Amino acid sequence: MLRIGLIGCGKISRTHREAMKRQADAAFVAFCDTDFAKAQQAASEDAGAAYSDVDRMLDEQALDGVIICTPPMFRTELIEAAARRGLPILCEKPPANSLEMARRTQEIISQYNALVSVGFLFRYYPLVDRLKALIRDRPVAYVRSRYLGHVVNNPVFEQTKTWYLRKDLSGGPILDQAIHVLDLVRYLFGDVQKVSAQGAFRIRPSDTINTAEDTVTVQFTTCSGVLVSHSHCWGHYRWVDELEVTGAEFSFVLDLNAQRLRGVDGPEEIELNDTTNGFEQEQSAWLEAIRTGNRSLVRSTYEDAVKSLALCLAINRSMESQQAEMVAV
Ligand SMILES: NC(=O)c1ccc[n+]([C@@H]2O[C@H](COP(=O)([O-])OP(=O)(O)OC[C@H]3O[C@@H](n4cnc5c(N)ncnc54)[C@H](O)[C@@H]3O)[C@@H](O)[C@H]2O)c1
Repeated sequence: MLRIGLIGCGKISRTHREAMKRQADAAFVAFCDTDFAKAQQAASEDAGAAYSDVDRMLDEQALDGVIICTPPMFRTELIEAAARRGLPILCEKPPANSLEMARRTQEIISQYNALVSVGFLFRYYPLVDRLKALIRDRPVAYVRSRYLGHVVNNPVFEQTKTWYLRKDLSGGPILDQAIHVLDLVRYLFGDVQKVSAQGAFRIRPSDTINTAEDTVTVQFTTCSGVLVSHSHCWGHYRWVDELEVTGAEFSFVLDLNAQRLRGVDGPEEIELNDTTNGFEQEQSAWLEAIRTGNRSLVRSTYEDAVKSLALCLAINRSMESQQAEMVAV
């Protein structure tokens, strides 16, 4: 059985813990959080050991890998601690909250040749594979995506994770949320050189707690020529996350929340549903890569994830400069 350690026992770690319970031959055996009570809670629920210090956990437990679920400002030291000990890592997105941090972290990963998977779970959705197959070798005219989230006007975030509402820490809606769908755009249509974006405080005014624009619109053209627009609002009462892909004879909408792919393909109407759990899939690909040494099973390497980070940072810069910005990698 693969013995996995969990670093960061907050909100998303629960989803990883549930997904891990459905993995054959792997389990979380140790839990670490700087807030020791959270590590203890997880350890008591899942019958593991609790730590507040990562180095102690890694020294005392004979682990086969770690999953990192800390906020994006805590990555480099944790990745280094695991990589130095030769441990494979599955790290939640985003890979960092600045390019400087990402480059430093990448150097460490390269130095130790660490296996690192970044948690872009949509890449593992079977419906994404289906969409990829449906559009293979067919020119795509445009992509339109939107992401709505109940964040700035949801008291839960203010009460349980204020770092989320601070743009200097979370990166705001583009770096924290849109990165999922923009990474998927890169996965399907390739890299981007230049972006243009506008942002505004349309739902909640800026204040000392809330410093990220809640509403953002983005436009860019991929290097492969596809025109892309993304709209984001993280002050909407529902959660919506979808991607529309249109060409001369087809138009598909992938609803990433409902996990439904609908559309038309010439005379044919398409509706596909597949609720495969993305967290479970990304974990199982990473676990299989650990077992077999086959790194190609990991669909999002750290190096590639940094390109999605760079795209999001360019969008944030464009919002501020009110000009088109180049994507720096
Ligand atoms: N893939 C997804 O769909 C998805 C969804 C939600 C969040 N996330 C990502 O997961 C990460 C965590 O988000 P969250 O909502 O769970 O945040 P959270 O604030 O609820 O939990 C983070 C936890 O990390 C702990 N922590 C901070 N620094 C630490 C350190 N150095 N060592 C050990 N523990 C430390 C905190 O005490 C906290 O308990 C973020 O990067 C976020 O973007 C991903």
